Amino acid sequence: QELQMNLEQIEKGGYEHFMLKEIYEQPNVIKDTYRGRLLANSGIIQMAGIEDNIEKFLNADRILIIACGTSWHAGLVAEYIIEEFARIPVEVEYASEFRYRNPIITNKDVVIAISQSGETADTLAAIKLSKEKGAFVFGVCNVVGSSISRETHAGAYTHAGPEIGVASTKAFTTQITVLTMMALRLAKAKGTISNSDFHRYLLELEVIPEKVMEALQTNDISKEIAAIYKDAPNCLYLGRGYNFPVALEGALKLKEISYIHAEGYPAAEMKHGPIALIDEKMPVVVIAPKQNHYDKVVSNIQEIKSRSGKIIAIVTKGDVQVKDLADHVIEIPDSSDALSPLLTTIPLQLLSYHIAVMRGCNVDQPRNLAKSVTVE
Ligand code: AGP
Repeated sequence: QELQMNLEQIEKGGYEHFMLKEIYEQPNVIKDTYRGRLLANSGIIQMAGIEDNIEKFLNADRILIIACGTSWHAGLVAEYIIEEFARIPVEVEYASEFRYRNPIITNKDVVIAISQSGETADTLAAIKLSKEKGAFVFGVCNVVGSSISRETHAGAYTHAGPEIGVASTKAFTTQITVLTMMALRLAKAKGTISNSDFHRYLLELEVIPEKVMEALQTNDISKEIAAIYKDAPNCLYLGRGYNFPVALEGALKLKEISYIHAEGYPAAEMKHGPIALIDEKMPVVVIAPKQNHYDKVVSNIQEIKSRSGKIIAIVTKGDVQVKDLADHVIEIPDSSDALSPLLTTIPLQLLSYHIAVMRGCNVDQPRNLAKSVTVE
């Protein structure tokens, strides 16, 4: 028993929980993910699984992304990035819905299956179905040699290393890293991105680990905010564009480890219903980095404020406008819009982690949940 405890302490590397250790591993594992694939100075992205099958991607009528949970959120980020850069139509579906709804799949489709464990039953079944219908299936998995990595025609590993905490953290950011590289590689092959933009994104991706490191410095402020809202019964997460999936992911993180009811929404959807929930007791986490949708998000924040909602805003360092309106701000480094999910996600992971710890929850093994869902 004692030996077992000591072993676990060693595995946690000085952190109180696996989840926290894995949150802090992100700068390094993102580097592991792009190592050998991203050659920023030479202006090259090379990924064996893509190079070998580039024609399949270039001739595809559309890309279908199938996944569950956090991996599905990474798929939503990928939809925005692939469509923006590579101009290939993308659809993202829950594997559990896809497999049972008699979907239209042809041999002109490329299916991307995303799974940390590579063992999720619904995702595996959706892959088998796609193969039967003639689609080319590409896997984005973390666990080497997993069922999904073996069942797919080709793929790219995320190289995040073992993720022990049930709540997915580093798997998510490394999935986004792989999918971003894929989008850029395909855009380059299709000629849908200018050489200068391509190069700029490569250079920015290369320094993302340093920015993630800086984003981790929000730990103290996240902890302070967690102490204020730890007893809230509900919480809303809002974001737009690339940060809409991050809002969904932030909400999932909070509910699964702290058991607080949380919902993620595209910020503009507020006025179609959820705004009715806002009162002085409702904390609203708004992802508002200074990019594309900034002004729109600022007006969404004003709407929440005029209804006395408590605003916790994730902003770009140096922001003044949101700072004036929000009850709390968490500053993250500046980045391009497309790469912002890799940074905005970090304080949301920390916020849910601290809230769960303060509520005395079993952070690494939340009730009713398994790390990989191998049954339906
Ligand atoms: C994330 O925090 C969850 N524990 C869960 O949603 C998970 O992402 C989902 O079960 C999919 O798992 P996979 O990536 O291993 O397929």
